[in-house]
Amino acid sequence: MARLIYSAITSLDGYVEDQEGKFDWAAPDDEVHAFVNDLERPIRTYLYARRMYETMVFWETVSTGAEQPGVVRDFAEIWRSAEKIVYSRTLQTASSARTRIEREFDADTIRRLKETSLADITIGGAELAGQAIAAGLVDECHLFLGPIVVGGGKRALPDNVRTQLELLGERRFKSDVVHLHYRISA
Ligand SMILES: NC(=O)c1ccc[n+]([C@@H]2O[C@H](COP(=O)([O-])OP(=O)(O)OC[C@H]3O[C@@H](n4cnc5c(N)ncnc54)[C@H](OP(=O)(O)O)[C@@H]3O)[C@@H](O)[C@H]2O)c1
Repeated sequence: MARLIYSAITSLDGYVEDQEGKFDWAAPDDEVHAFVNDLERPIRTYLYARRMYETMVFWETVSTGAEQPGVVRDFAEIWRSAEKIVYSRTLQTASSARTRIEREFDADTIRRLKETSLADITIGGAELAGQAIAAGLVDECHLFLGPIVVGGGKRALPDNVRTQLELLGERRFKSDVVHLHYRISA
């Protein structure tokens, strides 16, 4: 059975986006980027909420020429080769290949997808990931905590959900970003 995995780069106080809607402070340096690439490499299906998809679709058209850093070229290839399912009630058309739009996030459908998938699946977009965590669908999460407090914004983890976590691994990067890898108990 495939695992459903949530990854987020957050401020130390747990936000993926600040009160002004910005998250430039979360941009990974090459070391973190390379680590994220290795996490994403085996994933064959990304579940995206619409806002996260609109950010990530940049990778469909970014130049992969020799002028780009290796981590950028690497991630563009990883991203383009994966299947994407975008959850949105408003998006009319997808602007990337291997992409379909779903109007509803249905827990039973995701359970079946996990049962039948040969590779792990990721979910992105804090709002949608929060619904998946609340429904008990998320098996693991990777949090990258940056050395910044932003004081408010969009929380990486949902309100009104209580769940026990098991720490599977941790790493400190040169940029003072800390990676925490957790298993979420059923
Ligand atoms: N920290 C970082 O490193 C980082 C990286 C990339 C992006 N971000 C930003 O983080 C923010 C995440 O924002 P967010 O958590 O508010 O948005 P999100 O979870 O990415 O997207 C929310 C949208 O997903 C759709 N959706 C949610 N639940 C649904 C359901 N049950 N059925 C169908 N559609 C559903 C809705 O789209 P519709 O309105 O179309 O119906 C909803 O408005 C974004 O601004 C993203 O760009 C942060």
